[in-house]
Amino acid sequence: MAKKDIDWHNLGFGYVKTDKRYVSNFKDSAWDDGALISDDTITISECAGVLQYAQTVFEGLKAYTTEDGHVVCFRPDLNAERLEQSAKRLEMPAFPQDRFVDAVVQTVKANIDYVPPYGSGATLYIRPYMFGTNAVIGVKPADEYQFRVFTTPVGPYFKGGAKPITIRVSDFDRAAPHGTGHIKAGLNYAMSLHAIVDAHNQGFAENVYLDAATRTKIEETGGANILFITKDNKVVTPKSNSILPSITRRSLLIVAKEYLGLEVEEREVYLDEVKDFAECGLCGTAAVISPVGKINDHGKEICFPSGMEEMGPITKKLYETLTGIQMGRIEAPKGWIKVI
Ligand code: PLP
Ligand code: COI
Repeated sequence: MAKKDIDWHNLGFGYVKTDKRYVSNFKDSAWDDGALISDDTITISECAGVLQYAQTVFEGLKAYTTEDGHVVCFRPDLNAERLEQSAKRLEMPAFPQDRFVDAVVQTVKANIDYVPPYGSGATLYIRPYMFGTNAVIGVKPADEYQFRVFTTPVGPYFKGGAKPITIRVSDFDRAAPHGTGHIKAGLNYAMSLHAIVDAHNQGFAENVYLDAATRTKIEETGGANILFITKDNKVVTPKSNSILPSITRRSLLIVAKEYLGLEVEEREVYLDEVKDFAECGLCGTAAVISPVGKINDHGKEICFPSGMEEMGPITKKLYETLTGIQMGRIEAPKGWIKVI
């Protein structure tokens, strides 16, 4: 077993083809046994449900090398559960949750030489996904599906890693009140592409979206949930039915309470009150915790006292505790770490 010759320290968040991927097909109302394969390409009908009506859902999680040299995943059972919720909302069959975890384990094992070494700052990103494969021309769900898992080694999601970023309040809406904002479906990302390209062109790292009904409340960003720290060190994060229930955020709220003794508030957060917070961060599997230094609201800058040079002190504590748990330096709550 030899690690691949990759410049781990300088990896960005991009796709690198690895050796094996897991595939299982759903046909005649049943999933087949599934297998690891080498082919990274897919042949499907030109009229496949995924191609015509975007019938696809996905997940994202990571494998880490721990300080003592094990390879582990972080709470894959929650990704399995969320994929099922996402699939249900798009009228797709559930992939059994125990098989999901097993498929993740098999795929990471088969690509173990691509798991970045401890201390490199890189991780192995795991992308499980499912899509409608047979022809559908009338608007209806497919009858046949493919579930796949591939892996790719990645570095930081935002350039500069732990340097604070500037995000802007988007004029576009991400999710309708009774829409699909709470599931992880490709359609939510397709519709964010114009907004993210425009944000990048204007020099912003991400968009923060407001609630579509009143445009007064903070929801989340295109690829991560958001959290704030008050001047008296409370962790505040938006409560909304139209944001993705981030596994990182749910874990951080537990870390804040149980490990750091901080007060936590999950509640509606108004754009108007953001100026009073001391720190801000984006949280997600890809983002981990990315500090936000400024939010641009239509030319008006909301600057957090933590500044543009480094993470705010509470954000840093959250980051260090969470990554400490993931990398095996800090004891994890029961059931959080799946050893590969
Ligand atoms: N919100 C959105 C829109 C995302 O794409 C992600 C990424 O998965 C998250 C939040 C964070 O979720 P998690 O922490 O489960 O990765
Ligand atoms: C993740 O954090 O896993 C994401 O899906 C974010 C982005 C890459 C879509």
